[in-house]
Amino acid sequence: MSKLSGKIAVITGGNSGIGLATAELFAQEGAQVVVTGRRKSELDAAVEKIGANAVGVQGDVADLADLDRLYAEVGERFGRIDILFANAGVAEFSPLQAVTEEHFDKLFDTNVKGLLFSVQKALPLFADGGTIILNSSIANATGAAAFGVYSATKAAVRSFARTWTSDLKDRKIRVNSVSPGPIETPIFGKLGLSEQQTQEFGAQISATIPLGRFGQPEEIAKAVLFLASSDSSYIAGADLYVDGGRVAV
Ligand SMILES: NC(=O)c1ccc[n+]([C@@H]2O[C@H](COP(=O)([O-])OP(=O)(O)OC[C@H]3O[C@@H](n4cnc5c(N)ncnc54)[C@H](OP(=O)(O)O)[C@@H]3O)[C@@H](O)[C@H]2O)c1
Repeated sequence: MSKLSGKIAVITGGNSGIGLATAELFAQEGAQVVVTGRRKSELDAAVEKIGANAVGVQGDVADLADLDRLYAEVGERFGRIDILFANAGVAEFSPLQAVTEEHFDKLFDTNVKGLLFSVQKALPLFADGGTIILNSSIANATGAAAFGVYSATKAAVRSFARTWTSDLKDRKIRVNSVSPGPIETPIFGKLGLSEQQTQEFGAQISATIPLGRFGQPEEIAKAVLFLASSDSSYIAGADLYVDGGRVAV
């Protein structure tokens, strides 16, 4: 029996990487999936890849009018939401001495403000007993140099899983976060590094992982499916590290 049969799932940032892999798995498990992202061509390609159970709605999570449009469309088409994976996020690194207002605003606007309003604006459509999964990061618990602002955004996300569990308990909506370790996605190609720098950065990171490698997006998707389905029915306010042992060991 499929784990998400008949469920309506929204995945922000579903046109790439972890979000796309999760959308594909959710659709295979019987969910109707709505994916979002700013880039239209990537969104169209993702919808085609996910298959018949997918719809794309273009938009920026940091733009509240875009979120209103997203949920108006979801409401018209499906009438409710059972699962939200608030996944859209950006990464950029800067040591404290070099942090600019632009760097701070870019990361907080998408990773914190965008995530908060992605969840808040979904609530009127949310079915009681639904599940919300927030994409945090192992950076919420580690102190790598130059990760300061990014880590702070992901610590905020982890915190939201706790407080929103309390805020939404009367509606029996479970909120949890997932915290990936380094995962092989296009995010690393967006850091402005050369091919060689990217490879060196990757090798440095792999050396810190007990399992000795990057994870694959599909390995995060399986953890998100667990948190989205009734398999995790007694788990709330938790943060699940999927990181090859990086934080625990
Ligand atoms: N890969 C890793 O190692 C890793 C580790 C820990 C946590 N994470 C987290 O995992 C999440 C997904 O990252 P990924 O690795 O899968 O990277 P990715 O392939 O670059 O995917 C990022 C997704 O977010 C979307 N997005 C970014 N800004 C957005 C905005 N303002 N509005 C709407 N959508 C936006 C992107 O689509 P558009 O660009 O088209 O908008 C894309 O779909 C992020 O929150 C990231 O922080 C990743």
